Amino acid sequence: MSKKLFIKTWGCQMNVYDSARMADVLAPLGYTPSDEADGADMVILNTCHIREKAAEKVFSELGRLRHLKDEKARAGDKMVLAVAGCVAQAEGEEIVARAPFVDIVFGPQTYHTLPEMVAKAHRAAGAVLNTDFPAESKFDHLPEDSGGQGVSAFLAVQEGCDKFCTFCVVPYTRGAEFSRPAFQVLAEAKRMVANGTREINLLGQNVNAYHGEAADGSTWSLARLIRELADIDGLARIRYTTSHPRDLADDLIRAHAEVPQLMPYLHLPVQAGSDRILAAMNRKHTADHYRAIVDKLRAANPDLALSGDFIVGFPGESDADFAETLRLVNDVTYAQAYSFKYSPRPGTPASTEAKQVPEDVKSERLAALQQLIDAQQVAFNAGFVGRTVPVLFDRPGKRPGQLMGRSPHMQSVYVQAPERLVGTIADVRIEAAHANSLAGTVETGVYVSRTGHSAEVSA
Ligand code: 5AD
Ligand code: SF4
Repeated sequence: MSKKLFIKTWGCQMNVYDSARMADVLAPLGYTPSDEADGADMVILNTCHIREKAAEKVFSELGRLRHLKDEKARAGDKMVLAVAGCVAQAEGEEIVARAPFVDIVFGPQTYHTLPEMVAKAHRAAGAVLNTDFPAESKFDHLPEDSGGQGVSAFLAVQEGCDKFCTFCVVPYTRGAEFSRPAFQVLAEAKRMVANGTREINLLGQNVNAYHGEAADGSTWSLARLIRELADIDGLARIRYTTSHPRDLADDLIRAHAEVPQLMPYLHLPVQAGSDRILAAMNRKHTADHYRAIVDKLRAANPDLALSGDFIVGFPGESDADFAETLRLVNDVTYAQAYSFKYSPRPGTPASTEAKQVPEDVKSERLAALQQLIDAQQVAFNAGFVGRTVPVLFDRPGKRPGQLMGRSPHMQSVYVQAPERLVGTIADVRIEAAHANSLAGTVETGVYVSRTGHSAEVSA
């Protein structure tokens, strides 16, 4: 009998990926995904610990779910309520204590054992808590990917982080760096392409630190993995995210020059422009080191566009430090970027620093930085008007007859076109640029090429 599974996901792409895999693990038990919690047989909150008040949001969501669980119990049914992800990892015991009606609390490394945890939850009263970092990898125990993930899909290749930036919880919640074996990744990528995926975004907390075991026992870098993936027939586009500047090796930079399937867009967070702050963040690179990497990347591929992450108001950040961040943004020029006010995360070294920056100063700096980034983004997009770009259409748009796709530079592109173009790469003449998207018309004669670069016209 089919049981309804509702998963609510917060946070990063890794969490989105994990949620899909949790659904895969639970499918053999008869759980099918549902888009509402009401009436669900199992609800999983897949949580994120990066933003402020993350745990409070989870507790308030749990409060709402408790009513639905009680309602279901009155009807003689059980709703299994589970909390997953990084809040579960960091604050598992507190969740069990404060929300005793929760059945399962599990961290990001243990969800391959969900069937056992669900069985236990049905047998026993009290919560099942599993926030271990098991010695064996979950990737060796997960079922094959359900496939059919769509035209553009994520593939987790690396997890965890050994960098220990002083503001970040990831090394504590996701654990040490781990790379999936390259042969496993290749096999999964081939299955995905056979199921219709045309773009793969390789996912990892520090993805360019990838060093996975190949079938012959050697170790492959991310660049080597990308080159092998590029040989898969039908895989038109490859991306990877998120990278650390320190691990951006020369062979990866060369891949940006030599592998046409590797898209000319890179998310390369720098966090700040002041060397003093970068040192306090334990970033292990200077602003000039970052500038030099960007120069090398652009020498390899002049068309490369950059995205980044920034934190303003890190403890001890002065006006002069912040001015260095603005200077770096001006030097680099981003296609888009994310910026955040520093928020102390319990357990991280920076959270106990004495010199916390006042909230109003953080807000002012954030506004100034976002204004600069927005202006760069608008200018970047405006530069495409009148140009023709290959767009991979991955879904229908919101309006009738509309399709949505992505340019090589990750811009969302809207066109009016028949739905059969979903899954293809077509040349689009860009007619209008907006802050967050482009609009255009598919050129007559649809371009569908394997790589999206050397396209042929077919009538
Ligand atoms: N405060 C503010 N921003 C943070 N990030 C990570 N931890 C914090 C924090 N404590 C930001 C970083 C990172 C992105 C995913 O979130 O910029 O790159
Ligand atoms: Fe966190 Fe990224 Fe730093 Fe790792 S490299 S500690 S994931 S910010």
